[in-house]
Amino acid sequence: MVRGSERAFRELVRAQSVHLCYLPMIQAAKLVAGEPYEHSLIDVDGEESPVVAQLAGRDADELVAAGRLIQDKVAAIDLNLGCPQICAKRGRYGAFLLEEPDLVVSIVRAMSSALTCPVWCKIRLLETPEATLVFAKQLEEAGCSLLAIHARTRAQLGEGPVDLDTLHAVADALEIPVVANGGFANKTAADKLLDSTPVSAVMFASELLANPRLLTDETPMDDALAVRRAEEYLEYALRYPVPDHRHLEVHLRHILRRTVKNRPELIRWWSLLSRPWMKSPWQYLCMLALMAQARGLPAMDLGARFPDRTPLRTMPELRRPELVANPKNAKVNLKSTMPQNDTSTVLHDDKPNGDTAASAQDT
Ligand SMILES: Cc1cc2nc3c(=O)[nH]c(=O)nc-3n(C[C@H](O)[C@H](O)[C@H](O)COP(=O)(O)O)c2cc1C
Repeated sequence: MVRGSERAFRELVRAQSVHLCYLPMIQAAKLVAGEPYEHSLIDVDGEESPVVAQLAGRDADELVAAGRLIQDKVAAIDLNLGCPQICAKRGRYGAFLLEEPDLVVSIVRAMSSALTCPVWCKIRLLETPEATLVFAKQLEEAGCSLLAIHARTRAQLGEGPVDLDTLHAVADALEIPVVANGGFANKTAADKLLDSTPVSAVMFASELLANPRLLTDETPMDDALAVRRAEEYLEYALRYPVPDHRHLEVHLRHILRRTVKNRPELIRWWSLLSRPWMKSPWQYLCMLALMAQARGLPAMDLGARFPDRTPLRTMPELRRPELVANPKNAKVNLKSTMPQNDTSTVLHDDKPNGDTAASAQDT
């Protein structure tokens, strides 16, 4: 996923029954040009279960060159034929390539004959079920060895009903495995489809982003659980540093969106997510603690969670040490292991635009 599904998130979802994870989308041209961000995405050393790299691009030579850089690290390379975003429109890749089926077929043929790993495709539905079926068969003939289908059209973006009948028809007609994607809210829905159609697997996106433990959680998501999941994600991000701090923002937005919806008292903390100085999981943990407190949820004891770390104080606590002495007055109770004069780790919660506002330690 764009700015998501980095190692921290992958390790978190692997703790449940997720069998295969995609890396964040990789721009083939940037990988070939040696861009550090794209290269950080393909660092999969030490990961135990298989990963799939998804490439975006429209130039067969570039896609093959990018594929050669990663083919030995991954279980497969997937060609992105589903992205409907502005960047894809500008670059004429992703779902916009679906308008050029002959070009796509030639790309898939070039990739599958040049690369040593399997080549997969992820598409959206075309305008009619017949057109989708014909295109899917062409991809199979060109060497695509697994087809993931987001069962919505490009115009639908990520919303609206999914067309499971067309998915079913394509899975019936192809020899290669077909993966269903779009609108799966939980494991029960996925199991139902797997039991009743020839579809081989189900891919989760939005709902898994909203709850990385969606497949094993037995209780429905509520605000306390959302904060817990956000905290867990940040713990993983401390253990597995993210390639770019914007990944933290993307994942927290998805996990906390429903908690913040229609709650003006939380907007202050929510708006911190995109501040340019929010770069470390530590800062996001502080934000989360403040947001949990504003929501009336049990306090997060950051000091106990990370006892070997410099503890955190809010700005009012730093300005008025008596708040720490009297926890009833403190905005967030983070004082347990705090040296009295330590001001090194700060979440500046009252001047959200200041460049010097936050300085938090990271791992
Ligand atoms: C934040 C976000 C990032 C995404 N990035 C990608 C991507 O890089 N490549 C891709 O093929 N699909 C991407 N998608 C689309 C999802 O893979 C999926 O096809 C879509 O969300 C439908 O599944 P869902 O209904 O389970 O969300 C993204 C979706 C979201 C919400």
